[in-house]
Amino acid sequence: MDKYISVAIDGPAGAGKSTIAKRVAKELGYLYVDTGAIYRTVGYHMSLMGIGPKDADGIKRCIDDVNIEIVYGEDGLQHMILNGDDVTDRIRTPEMSMMASGVAAQSCVRDYLLDMQRNLAATRNVVMDGRDIGTVVLPNAQVKVYLTASAEVRADRRFKELQAKGENVRYEDVYTDVVKRDEADMNRKIAPLKCAEDAEVLDCSYLTVDQVVAEMIAIIRKKAESNG
Ligand code: DC
Repeated sequence: MDKYISVAIDGPAGAGKSTIAKRVAKELGYLYVDTGAIYRTVGYHMSLMGIGPKDADGIKRCIDDVNIEIVYGEDGLQHMILNGDDVTDRIRTPEMSMMASGVAAQSCVRDYLLDMQRNLAATRNVVMDGRDIGTVVLPNAQVKVYLTASAEVRADRRFKELQAKGENVRYEDVYTDVVKRDEADMNRKIAPLKCAEDAEVLDCSYLTVDQVVAEMIAIIRKKAESNG
């Protein structure tokens, strides 16, 4: 039996993975790892270098200059340190969402980040969320959940989040971004977003956060019991 438990949560943009994963990790006393933040940090570096999300040559040229550290604050918050600079707040913009999705399609980026993600799960219990956690990063995770919701519901949640942050956005633009990112993340050649064969699908379109957290913890307990 594995020494540490890994809970892999995958799903499309805006399904609420990070909100749920963070809460579940806290309740179980596991480390929460947000892998999207790692891709966002790479995307941020490329944009600083003036490299576009589809510039495969530019991304390849610069990937070795990306030095990422993940530091957990006392609040349990995952801070992203890029070449010594805390960029945690700067990676949460719609532009960085699209940059992250772009760089994530490049094999040099995915290869570069694979060990970093695996190492985080090698020495402790984790709840890790992303797109390919159950399929590629942690294929042996004891618990896999595919968290999804309709594109309209996901766009509406993102829209309200951005509005609450004081950003001047239109629902139509947020919806278009969500659909575009689904397209890009699900149809790329390498490690596309898809539901692992052994994942439980959880559609949270009409569930509250509390209900999803409860459901997820029930799934984890059930799996843990059946694994002895
Ligand atoms: O979860 P997020 O919205 O912060 O992720 C940003 C982008 O990063 C997403 O559009 C696709 C990419 N990503 C990925 O390809 N694989 C992961 N494990 C996590 C994120």
